[in-house]
Amino acid sequence: MISNCSRITLFVLLIAGFCPAVAQDMRDISAKVFVHADAQLRRSILELGDSLRFPRATNPDGAWKTIPITDWTSGFFPGCLWHMYEYSKDPHFRSAAERWTEKLEPMQYFIDNHDIGFMIFNSYGNGYRLTGNPAYRRVVLQAARTAVKRFNPRVGCIKSWDNPKWEYPVIVDNMMNLELLFWAVQNGADSSLYRIAMSHAERTMKNHFRPDGSTFHVISYDSTEGRVIGGYTAQGYSDSSTWSRGQAWAVYGFTMAYRFTRDSRFLHTAQRAAGYFIDNLPADHVPYWDFKAPGIPNEPRDASAAAIAACGLLELSTYTEDKPHSQRLFATAESILRSLASAPYSSAGSPSRGITLHSVTSKPANAEVDVTLIYADYYFLEALLKHRRMSASR
Ligand code: GLY
Repeated sequence: MISNCSRITLFVLLIAGFCPAVAQDMRDISAKVFVHADAQLRRSILELGDSLRFPRATNPDGAWKTIPITDWTSGFFPGCLWHMYEYSKDPHFRSAAERWTEKLEPMQYFIDNHDIGFMIFNSYGNGYRLTGNPAYRRVVLQAARTAVKRFNPRVGCIKSWDNPKWEYPVIVDNMMNLELLFWAVQNGADSSLYRIAMSHAERTMKNHFRPDGSTFHVISYDSTEGRVIGGYTAQGYSDSSTWSRGQAWAVYGFTMAYRFTRDSRFLHTAQRAAGYFIDNLPADHVPYWDFKAPGIPNEPRDASAAAIAACGLLELSTYTEDKPHSQRLFATAESILRSLASAPYSSAGSPSRGITLHSVTSKPANAEVDVTLIYADYYFLEALLKHRRMSASR
């Protein structure tokens, strides 16, 4: 029995076959999104002014709800500005990106949780990649040295949260923050950071995955012996369900780990995570907030999970030698991007100051349900830029 989603993916594969007309159509779609993003980001820059608070999610009237620099999402607004600058080369976006990036300078020493990678790599990391500013490089390297202060060698992982509910919680999201460490080692940091990132990825590969390729959101360890206490959820429906953004972090996180290490175990793990993600998508390729949410199909979607997964799937398709498999990954990513670029997921014509609609921070906590999230926008723009680069090099 073939699911709706697989049927649509196969159809896209057949007509796409990397044919030039389809590639051009995707370029037109992404050009239109960047016109919209340009207007939305200009308006946000203007409305936020000199604020030291960063946009995170939209309020019901569409205006940004803002947060202090210590929030895990603070790097995404400067990151969106860098993406916009990368696309347009417009000096207005470069100076705004620099201004918003530099407000995060104190965060290079932040040790309260694992999120320093999201904060610093998406802001200063993109800034260094696009400008070569040596001061930015120094901040990223310091942030990597700070991140490993949360590593416990007995557990073999960086501790995600100091939450008394769990002894030593490690969340699947934390895979993404290893990018900071791998990058730092390539850029002159001590090789111990590479060993720490490897250890964290290996432990996550071993303990976060279920036999069907789905993931636990949280694994709690015993901090003395490093034993797994159990698998749990914080933002998903239940301990045994699969929170869709967590699964997306796994897809992208292990793809990124393979990029830096060329360790085939990470490639295989990314492919397993991707297989579960793709096989459980609804027809429009934007997942419900949890793959096992009890009220499906009357449950909120999570556009942020779709956007993160699209980034991972595009890149993973380039590492996957089996051609039909690679094309399936690529075609799924394209289908996600097409959906996010159009109604009901595009914010065009809505009061939202962001670019996408219909994301969820935490349904169990009733926090930011069915809103624009700044990180959905960030990964959506990133995926579109990746797609443009990949199409140009075909
Ligand atoms: N890393 C936090 C989240 O994905 O909600």
